[in-house]
Amino acid sequence: LIHLLSTEGLSRDILTHILDTATNFVSINDREVKKVPLLRGKSVFNLFFENSTRTRTTFEIAAKRLSADVLNLDISRSSTAKGETLLDTIANLSAMAADLFVVRHSQSGAPYLIAQHVAPHVHVVNAGDGRHGHPTQGLLDMYTIRHYKKDFTNLSVAIVGDVLHSRVARSDIHALTTLGCPDLRVVGPSTLVPENFSAMGARVVHSLDEGIRDADVIIMLRLQNERMSGALLPSSQEYFKKFGLTPERLRLAKPDAIVMHPGPINRGVEIASEVVDGDQSVILPQVTFGIAVRMAVMSIVAGNEA
Ligand code: CP
Repeated sequence: LIHLLSTEGLSRDILTHILDTATNFVSINDREVKKVPLLRGKSVFNLFFENSTRTRTTFEIAAKRLSADVLNLDISRSSTAKGETLLDTIANLSAMAADLFVVRHSQSGAPYLIAQHVAPHVHVVNAGDGRHGHPTQGLLDMYTIRHYKKDFTNLSVAIVGDVLHSRVARSDIHALTTLGCPDLRVVGPSTLVPENFSAMGARVVHSLDEGIRDADVIIMLRLQNERMSGALLPSSQEYFKKFGLTPERLRLAKPDAIVMHPGPINRGVEIASEVVDGDQSVILPQVTFGIAVRMAVMSIVAGNEA
């Protein structure tokens, strides 16, 4: 693996190898994951052309724990604002001996474009591009599911909400189908969950109650208002009434079902606060696992495996 641009096309062996590698870096109880020298002498450039809290900071922590030198380019203060193109920006940063670019961009495909133009020894990791993909989120979601449920081949998983605009949903669907999940449902209104998602191997369901019934895993998604135009925008209250996950509705799922969310959450829109903060929520462990998964990805693509 030279770059990580998508979960689509990754084999079950590679997905499992990344998850297994991440287990070496996880330490939930004593939070001190020791620093390892796997990226010593390498420079990681975090390029976030779109806002981020979790992904940017966990990539930074992960790179530091791998002993890399990390540079976070402040895009809003960069010469991008003066009209410098994406590829010229990359060429200039490459001239500063970057080894690995972590890229988030509002345009689907931007990390692919960069990967086509960097030198062969430079690696690119997609940290979310448009609505296309968010592969490390997909991988940390798989890590979380495997941690709590052990195996994918007997699971019912429901992905609920604005699937249409969600790069997380696409990355999760590719990974879950490859890992053998036999019952994958995408759940939401027809405007946000079109029928063509069935071509990806998921069952399309337009009722929340039906979609989460007897599920082992529920992945809730935020309404991506920034990617919608007027006609699609539902009112928050109306949406919550029909598709918000409440404690009452959660009782339709298996009693030991876990509730996930990639964040940022909008309490009272797609999910009730009681569920976010409840016993079945694993939303914050997802964030913690993200560090280990990103350590695994960077150590694998940059050539020094754990
Ligand atoms: N899950 C996720 O990508 O969160 P951020 O946008 O905060 O990075």
